[in-house]
Amino acid sequence: MLVTILACMGVWMTPHSLVASMEEARAMGGTHHPILGVFGVMSAKLTVVNIIILTSFMSFLLYWRANQQITVKWGKAARAFEVFLFSVAILGVILAGIYGYFVPAIYRVNVLSVAQVLAVLFVLALVTPMTGMMLRGAKMTGKMTWGIMRPSSQYALVINAITVVLTMSLMGYARSASRVHWHVYGVLEDTSAYAYTPPLGTAAFLFSVNTLLFFSLVAAIFWVTTRTIRYDGFCTQYFFVAPFVEWLVSLPERLSAPKPVGEARSPYFRKVVGVVVGFLAAFTWAGFMVPQSVGLPPTKEKLDVAKISSPKDLTRIGQNMFFGKGQCALCHTLGAEAGRCPSLQNAGARLTREFIFETLTKPDAYVKLDFEQVEPKKFPAQMPVINKPPIDLTDQELLTVIAFVQSLGGKVTVEPAELIALDQPAPVAEPAEAEPPAPERLESRREVEHKGS
Ligand code: HEC
Repeated sequence: MLVTILACMGVWMTPHSLVASMEEARAMGGTHHPILGVFGVMSAKLTVVNIIILTSFMSFLLYWRANQQITVKWGKAARAFEVFLFSVAILGVILAGIYGYFVPAIYRVNVLSVAQVLAVLFVLALVTPMTGMMLRGAKMTGKMTWGIMRPSSQYALVINAITVVLTMSLMGYARSASRVHWHVYGVLEDTSAYAYTPPLGTAAFLFSVNTLLFFSLVAAIFWVTTRTIRYDGFCTQYFFVAPFVEWLVSLPERLSAPKPVGEARSPYFRKVVGVVVGFLAAFTWAGFMVPQSVGLPPTKEKLDVAKISSPKDLTRIGQNMFFGKGQCALCHTLGAEAGRCPSLQNAGARLTREFIFETLTKPDAYVKLDFEQVEPKKFPAQMPVINKPPIDLTDQELLTVIAFVQSLGGKVTVEPAELIALDQPAPVAEPAEAEPPAPERLESRREVEHKGS
């Protein structure tokens, strides 16, 4: 059982993408390790976690039934049934886990993971009362021995508690790191001054300080409650004041009492504090050892139309858009190598300006059918709408990107004048110079400026 749990732990701790330098990644052939990468994904993690739960439950059953001889007639059959249940559940969990590699994530999350958890819960809910009934009237064959546990084993429990708190903090960090500056992706942008993710070292330091604070509070609560139960007069009603009052009241009594000679104070508290601080320091150190990078919100440069004088300027800005705000390079390559999506090599020669525009703004315009299916299936476009959030390019920015795509082997037909024309606010909203700016006028003007930018 220990081997099973340790093996499962190993899978659970295997990272999906390794933090690697460029050279390391190249030597490995990608950011995922060819063999270990298989264990890094969610399907493997959920499987091993479910097996860990089942194995821990099994060890609990063994402990529960230890030194008891089952006397009920159906005991043997019930035990065989329990073995059968466990085997089916473990096999089912593993098979669902393996199947999870071959289906879309949404199916795995909605169906397979739920099935795995339900199988485990079913075993727990069925076997617990069954064992209880089975042990009714059982003959005790020996005595349970309690309390023989080496004091040092308590450190494992303390570290366990610390790890749980640290893991929770890390999950928060993972969420923050992957939300890419959106509260709701593509809908509600995070524009606050704090819309950045600190590097891992800083985060690890903050987690450690928070963890230490949290456990100091827990320790304080234990201290308060253990102090106040010594005297009947004080109850936990005056929670935080009580120990000090008690200390004051007992002061004369203690002062008059002879000093105890040679009575060693329990050294455990200090040792535990030492271990905890050491563990957290090691954690912080490890946090600083991995490459540090700050997740800053994307810079929002305003397109300065006045600076554009030639089609060359247009393609240069378009290129920056392509690799920056437009995020095109996340999917497209410009060379011969195949990326996730069509390479845009020579796209300017292949595609008309109208087609490029339509691809960027209405990716669904051409209905793509998958003819490998017997019934032609309609495919949703994978190309995002470029002028809607989250990418949300303005009309002018869109034109620069089109210019850049055209420049890839073709002739750029976008004119700087077109961008300048877009910059002019609609004449209706333009207030006359002499007119005093009425408040509602200002409002509408701001709106126009906003739309135009
Ligand atoms: C999420 C990935 C993704 C991003 C980001 C993306 N595209 Fe695409 N793009 C695609 C896919 C996939 C296609 C193929 C058509 C389809 O499936 O919708 C495509 C098709 C195209 C085509 C047509 C190619 C052809 O040969 O017919 C052009 C041009 C294009 N994208 C330009 C861009 C530009 C410019 C940007 C950035 C502003 C961009 N794309 C951002 C995924 C993406």
